[in-house]
Amino acid sequence: MGHYNGDSQHDGEEVYDLICVGFGPASLAIAIAIHEMLPERRPKVLFLERQQQFIWHAGMLLPGSKMQISFIKDLATLRDPRSEFTFLNYLKEKNRLLDFINLGTFLPLREEYNDYMQWCASKFNDVVSYGETVTLVEPSKDNAGKANRFVVHSKAGGIEERRLAKRVVVAVGGRPVLPKPMPEYHPRVVHSSQYSSRVPQALSNLDASYRVAVIGAGQSAAEVFSDVSSRYANANTTLFIRGDALKPSDDSPFVNEIFNPSATDKFFQTPAEERHQQLVENRATNYSVVRLELIERIYHDIYVQRLRDPSGASWKMNIRNHSQLTGFSSSNDHVTLRMSHHENGVDTVEDHEFDLVIVATGYARDMHQELLAPTKSLLEDPTAERFPIGRDYKVQFGDGKVSADAGIYLQGCNEVTHGLSDTLLSVLAVRAGEVVDSIFNDKHLSNVHTNGHATKLPASSKVGGPQSNGNGHNGISANGYH
Ligand SMILES: Cc1cc2nc3c(=O)[nH]c(=O)nc-3n(C[C@H](O)[C@H](O)[C@H](O)COP(=O)(O)OP(=O)(O)OC[C@H]3O[C@@H](n4cnc5c(N)ncnc54)[C@H](O)[C@@H]3O)c2cc1C
Ligand SMILES: NC(=O)c1ccc[n+]([C@@H]2O[C@H](COP(=O)([O-])OP(=O)(O)OC[C@H]3O[C@@H](n4cnc5c(N)ncnc54)[C@H](OP(=O)(O)O)[C@@H]3O)[C@@H](O)[C@H]2O)c1
Repeated sequence: MGHYNGDSQHDGEEVYDLICVGFGPASLAIAIAIHEMLPERRPKVLFLERQQQFIWHAGMLLPGSKMQISFIKDLATLRDPRSEFTFLNYLKEKNRLLDFINLGTFLPLREEYNDYMQWCASKFNDVVSYGETVTLVEPSKDNAGKANRFVVHSKAGGIEERRLAKRVVVAVGGRPVLPKPMPEYHPRVVHSSQYSSRVPQALSNLDASYRVAVIGAGQSAAEVFSDVSSRYANANTTLFIRGDALKPSDDSPFVNEIFNPSATDKFFQTPAEERHQQLVENRATNYSVVRLELIERIYHDIYVQRLRDPSGASWKMNIRNHSQLTGFSSSNDHVTLRMSHHENGVDTVEDHEFDLVIVATGYARDMHQELLAPTKSLLEDPTAERFPIGRDYKVQFGDGKVSADAGIYLQGCNEVTHGLSDTLLSVLAVRAGEVVDSIFNDKHLSNVHTNGHATKLPASSKVGGPQSNGNGHNGISANGYH
């Protein structure tokens, strides 16, 4: 077991140096950065993840779906290309390096990238508690009234748990968003994030002539539309989009520079109004857009229908543009969508019946607001809409409200201040280094430059180990990094 150098007790309770809420790619990159940047220090760290295992957007791991980013922007390379956690090292260890080279692509399957991240995550089993949902984070104050610890409340299998930590990283990803008239929970309504887990049960007969609606014009909507059509040969699938047409994502090289780690500095220093303009201007790199390859595939499939039936009467795939959902009702065996359509200057309202509606209407990144609600009183302005955040992703609490060795860090919800890369994988390797640097950079941290790059690691540095206690949700003994 590793020894621990810090203050591990607080009125008799164990104190973690760091608890990370959520163990998705952002936190996994932090785990790797801690392991590589602090090889000797072994801080007391714990990751709490509500899923039962590491899995990356499980509901959208569709057959054949590809990454939207070069594998070189993996969880380590841009911080340290010599890291053992690079995608290339993963391929080498899995004995697929040459076969992957022969594929001639920078864009692995999402299935393979998920496997890469699971391979990385497996090395940290002794510091992750899976199946544990964090419910609240609140400050704990010292005698002088300063917050010097945070209490992390969680639930695992109905059992409530509380732990103390000096720092908390909140990296919980996005929350599925449903369009307004849609009920939050309905057996015939599925958000794209749950596509793989719910659709096979909802549409259990592969040969049935189901009526399926897909709503949205982003990558998720296009992938789901294409997948339903190929999986259910007799289904009638309609894609409703608000705009004119499916539009391609811009991943051209000049534009793509906004996803360089150095672009975060520039963006952060830009005045708020200009930042907003830049987000709007570059939106088509990521939101409401589809990779051109997939647009072309869908166009091809619709063309084949046109070839075989010029009337359109028998088409299984249909796209209705300029369509806005205005009403929703349901009966035992179907749902009815009221759609307003706008065509050639004419507005019409139509009711459409479906067996299932799949809403691919994106995500909101505001879950930290509820989790951190009790800490708002520490802000200079507790009524502020957003948590003010520093370049190092640390929440800027009011002067003297929080002790210097305590704090909250936010990951993946800082697009407004840190740019469009914030919700993506693009900068994770470097960003994780920056966060680790900000949290742990003191006299112990002699091998880390201020830009978060680690220097050469000792060859003896290892992760995980035989003492790993698996993923027990209670009584986990996170003994730090090895
Ligand atoms: C289908 C899909 C494909 C994508 N593909 C790409 C791509 O190819 N390239 C790219 O750059 N980006 C892609 N993205 C964007 C995506 O946001 C990032 O890939 C990445 O998942 C961000 O990592 P994260 O850790 O910030 O968030 P997430 O991956 O969402 O991870 C957050 C984790 O926190 C856990 N969690 C949430 N709440 C709690 C709680 N209260 N307690 C405990 N645990 C909690 C969740 O279970 C989850 O495991 C994709 C997004 C989707 C939806
Ligand atoms: N293979 C992959 O790598 C992959 C797969 C899926 C997703 N992703 C990523 O995941 C992220 C999210 O993508 P996403 O497609 O889920 O979401 P998104 O890009 O935010 O797209 C949401 C879509 O829903 C539509 N919409 C929102 N509210 C609506 C409403 N009330 N009525 C009708 N339509 C509405 C939007 O319409 P408008 O266009 O009219 O605004 C938009 O087209 C992106 O980063 C994307 O790249 C990656």
